[in-house]
Parts: sequence; C-alpha cells; structure tokens
Amino acid sequence: MTQSKKTHSKRTVKPVRRPAKTVKHPAKDAKRPLKIDRRMVGGGSVEVPSAVLRSWKELAVVSDPVKAKQNAQKFRELWKIFNKGREQISRELLQSQDTAEAYVLGFHLPNAARAALLCRRIAQRVGITAGSKPGVGSGMRLGDWLGKSFTQQRIFDLGCGSGAWSQVWLSEVRLNRNAVYLIDASRALLEMAAKGIAAVKLAAGSSASIYVETIPKAIAAFNFAQYDAPGQSLDVYIMGYVWNELINDRAAQAHVMARLESCVTLKRDALLLLAEPATDEFALGAMALRDELCAAGWVAIYPCPTGARACPMLNAKGGVRDWCFSEGGWRKPDEYMQLEEDAGIGHNKLNSAMFALASPELALRLPKMAPDLRDQTQVVVGKPLLPGGRPGLEKGFSYLLCTPDGLVKTSPKKIEIKFAKPRGSTVSGAPKLAEKSWEKSGEKSATSKRGG
Ligand SMILES: C[S@@+](CC[C@H](N)C(=O)[O-])C[C@H]1O[C@@H](n2cnc3c(N)ncnc32)[C@H](O)[C@@H]1O
Repeated sequence: MTQSKKTHSKRTVKPVRRPAKTVKHPAKDAKRPLKIDRRMVGGGSVEVPSAVLRSWKELAVVSDPVKAKQNAQKFRELWKIFNKGREQISRELLQSQDTAEAYVLGFHLPNAARAALLCRRIAQRVGITAGSKPGVGSGMRLGDWLGKSFTQQRIFDLGCGSGAWSQVWLSEVRLNRNAVYLIDASRALLEMAAKGIAAVKLAAGSSASIYVETIPKAIAAFNFAQYDAPGQSLDVYIMGYVWNELINDRAAQAHVMARLESCVTLKRDALLLLAEPATDEFALGAMALRDELCAAGWVAIYPCPTGARACPMLNAKGGVRDWCFSEGGWRKPDEYMQLEEDAGIGHNKLNSAMFALASPELALRLPKMAPDLRDQTQVVVGKPLLPGGRPGLEKGFSYLLCTPDGLVKTSPKKIEIKFAKPRGSTVSGAPKLAEKSWEKSGEKSATSKRGG
C-alpha cells in the first residue's frame, strides 16, 4: 500500500511522500552544534498501573498454564496478521471470545504501556514530571494537574479494543465525575474492556464516579452528539492504533474529523491522544492528521515543540524528510516475559508514533495551567548515524531535535546508539540554538534503524 492512498478526508490532507530510508552522511556545515547534557533529558521506563496488570492476569487467564500456552499460540497468529497488512484486518477477526482472549493476552499490556508512556511524556512536557508508574513517583499526577481546572471528563475511546488506553488514563487521571464511552466493533473485546475498567474503578477506592458505557458500533455510526451534556467537561478522545485501520473507511475518518473540528467551533475543552505504529506509513499518517488538526486550530502538546505550526519533518523544504515516533522503556512483568518466550515474540522497547493535542479552548488555558510548557523545548526526533570512521575509530550518531524553529542537528556522539536518549524525550534548557543545519543542508533521512 502506498502512502498516497492514505488520504484522511477529501478536504485538507496533503498527500505525503515516503521518506528515503537510506542512512546518509551528516551535514558538513554544522558549525556550532548543540551540546546535550545527559541530565537535561527525560527518559526512563514505564510500568503498567497495577490495577490494569491485575485485571489483565484474570482476563487473559495467565494462571492456567495449559490455556496460557494455547493462547500464546493464538497470539502469535494474531501478531502475524497485525504485522502483515493492518488495513486488511477484517472487522470479524476479533469477534470471537477465543480470539479476544488471545488478543488481550498479547496486545493489552504493550498497549497499556504505550498509554503509560504517553501519560508520562505529557506530564514531562507540562512540567509536572510524573514518576515511572503513572500516579507513583516524585511528581504530581496528571489527574491532580487537570483536576485543578476540571471536575469532570468524558472519554471517547474510539476502537477501544480491550480498553487499555482508557484504563491507564483513568488510573492516572480521575476527576470527580468520569464518563467512559468505549466504542468498538467487537462485542467480545468491549466486554473485556468494561471488566478492566471495573477493576480500575475498584482499585481506586475514591469517591470519584466512573460511568462506563460500551457501544458495539462502527465508529462511523457512533453518534457523538447523543452523549453531549451541558456543563463544562474535559473531553478526551483516544485513538490507539485505530486511525490506520480506518484507511479504507473514509466515512469513519471524516466522521471523526468532523467531531474534532467541531471542538474548535463549539469551543470545547478537548484533548486528543493519538497513537499509531512506528512504521513510516502509519507514523506519516498520524503526522498528517496532526497537521490537519493544527490547521483547524488544535495545538500539539506532545511531542511537538512547534505547537500549532506545521510539522517540520512533514513540510521540510524539498518534501517529507522523515517520520516521527516516540521510544521508551517498559518494565515488563514476569508473566509477560514468559508469554514472549512461549510465543517467540519480543519487544525490546516501546516504539510508537504518539501525539497529544489540545483543542484551541484548552490550549488557551495552557499558559496558566502549564507555565513550564515552554516554547524553547526541544525534542529528540532522530538519531542520525555517522558514517563508519577510519578503522579503529568508533562510529557515532547525532541527535536530530525538533525545536520551535525547526529541525536542528547536534554534535556527534561517540556513545553507542542503544544508550542514546529516546526519541520523544525532551531536552530543556539546552544552550542557544546553533543553526538549522539539518534543514539547510538539504540532507535527507539520515536516520538510524527505525522502529515498528
Ligand atoms: C489494533 S486494535 C487497538 C485497540 C485499542 N485502541 C488499543 O490501542 O489498545 C483496533 C481496534 O479497533 C477496532 N476497530 C477497527 N475499525 C473499527 C471501526 N470502523 N469501527 C469500530 N471499531 C473498529 C477493532 O475492532 C479493534 O478492537
């Protein structure tokens, strides 16, 4: 499938060109490269919240070794399907109870870990720096931060699957009143998603109310307006690995876009959490969606330091330069390590094209809510490899940073690439920018191995 087929709606999405995949030499004119101090950069590993983990163990029946082995085999088959051609995935695939169980076994925790990573990165961007587990650690919880401005939220988890994202979000952000709308074509997964939310609710033991509704419908048929209510609410739209599954469902994409655009005209306080696989075509699709929403007035708060401005990677002089994704560590529980062994599938780290966007109304509050969401923030978006040096000389890499002024390359590093700062981590307080060497040089995708 080519990128040009991935138009999101007829109106504004520009066709994007695939980036070159070759590793090129760094720019020669990087005269005053940036120096990055290790302490300036946020990174680290995340954990799945304990309530989410506990309910996963029950739902995926990990305590039964025979069943666990069978499900591991089914998970392996599903994994192959998901990695072959996501746009070919049949709506029927996840309908049966058996398949849903295998799906939960293998995909629920990595999805939850990605959600935890995005929560953590948002916390870092807005300046509250949560600990490694959502809600645990030295920092303030995202929920405490948002709770200063809102008392209620409505969560629309579109194509929720097993509800991993809603469960993590609710573990991290619980306001006085919470309504969760789980929308998915699979009844079997919806049932599991609702059970997982019940577990999170139970674990919370707080007076906060959580209303959950499962909606077994196609996204295109979901009537958002039916769930609108008077009173000020934070609306959270979640799209975890679902936008790419709507490639052939223009009606669904247009329906979602119309709703998100209505948040601008109706001045709603809304947040969009978007995640897509970290491959070139899906990440580029997410970047195009981000740009389209920013053109409509939304403001990117993660990872983009460019806010509402067009993505410099997608709109670089001469065409698309590269694709943007986030990386992070995940402290996997033993049971999941065992599954990876049984299924022969392993994740070294989390890779995902993740974005958080604020509606214009919410963005207006941000300078007060998050004075630390500083404009000069710089984010690691690439780690271009240096060419092999003379024999005996170590290879190195540079950091490619996204900054409010565009893309900047830093001075070469001589440490191993595996010890580099993860993509999507923030570099704050770095010295004054040297120059836009990367963009000036016209260098194309000088990027090391990209994640999928
Ligand atoms: C890859 S899963 C992701 C699940 C979940 N968002 C997560 O990240 O954990 C995609 C989900 O979207 C659902 N889905 C795909 N297309 C849909 C559509 N047009 N309407 C409703 N659900 C859809 C599938 O049933 C599946 O559960």
